[in-house]
Amino acid sequence: MNKPIGVMDSGVGGLTVAKEIMRQLPDEQIIYFGDLKRCPYGDRPLEEVKKYTIEVADHLVSRGVKLIVVACNTATAAALPALEERYDIPVIGVINPGARSAIQNSNNHNVIVLATRGTVDSEAYKNAIHYINNDFQITSLACPKFVPLVEELRYKDKVVVRIALHQTLKHLVNSTADTIILGCTHYPLLAGEIYDYFGGRKKVIDSGHETAREVSSVLTYGKCHAAPGNSRNHLMIVNGDSTRFEYILKDWIPFIDYTIEEIDLEVY
Ligand code: DGL
Repeated sequence: MNKPIGVMDSGVGGLTVAKEIMRQLPDEQIIYFGDLKRCPYGDRPLEEVKKYTIEVADHLVSRGVKLIVVACNTATAAALPALEERYDIPVIGVINPGARSAIQNSNNHNVIVLATRGTVDSEAYKNAIHYINNDFQITSLACPKFVPLVEELRYKDKVVVRIALHQTLKHLVNSTADTIILGCTHYPLLAGEIYDYFGGRKKVIDSGHETAREVSSVLTYGKCHAAPGNSRNHLMIVNGDSTRFEYILKDWIPFIDYTIEEIDLEVY
């Protein structure tokens, strides 16, 4: 079925998931929605994030997508059950795939979750991991400095990044956890620095890989993979100005065909 896959995030972070979907499923066309004007979601009350997420998902559905990927942990924590109930197409969040991946990777059942305040407060990772295996020890930490580093294009400035990492992560340096979940889709842009900060001693989990695998499984079960030769011109819808978005898109996923459309949804 050659309908597109809808992918959404508050900003550019979901591109880390979109990139992995493009890699694993090259015949699928993506409609990506970045809600830049209302980013960050992570510091907002979850009820507000839920309203924004439903509005964005409704927009993707109106564009005829066959499946929605909520490529934002905060939006997944706030709205996944509501979206699953609202549509008759599959909706996939990033928290269950990230939790599964951490369970597969951790040998000592001790993991750290780095995420936004909203995701940490929701305890969504803790619940998702304990639902599968209650033996896990989980330490969650809100990292409010990380999303602005990415959205303001400072993620390549190693000095600025290291200072922010040290300010945020210094209490975890001696943690015995062997695995870190990047519980925000913006953080994979800092993954190398986070890995180095812990001296290369901890596995760093980006839920994008496992999420793309889940998308692939769902398309297989539903027999709705796109046919080879399907259009690979991806549509990027940006709420607000697209300049920063396009900079990161070109940097993170170079050499793809895309069209950008700016729209104007209200901040309320
Ligand atoms: N990328 C979003 C997430 O995965 C958070 C960014 C934001 O705070 O808007 O939670």
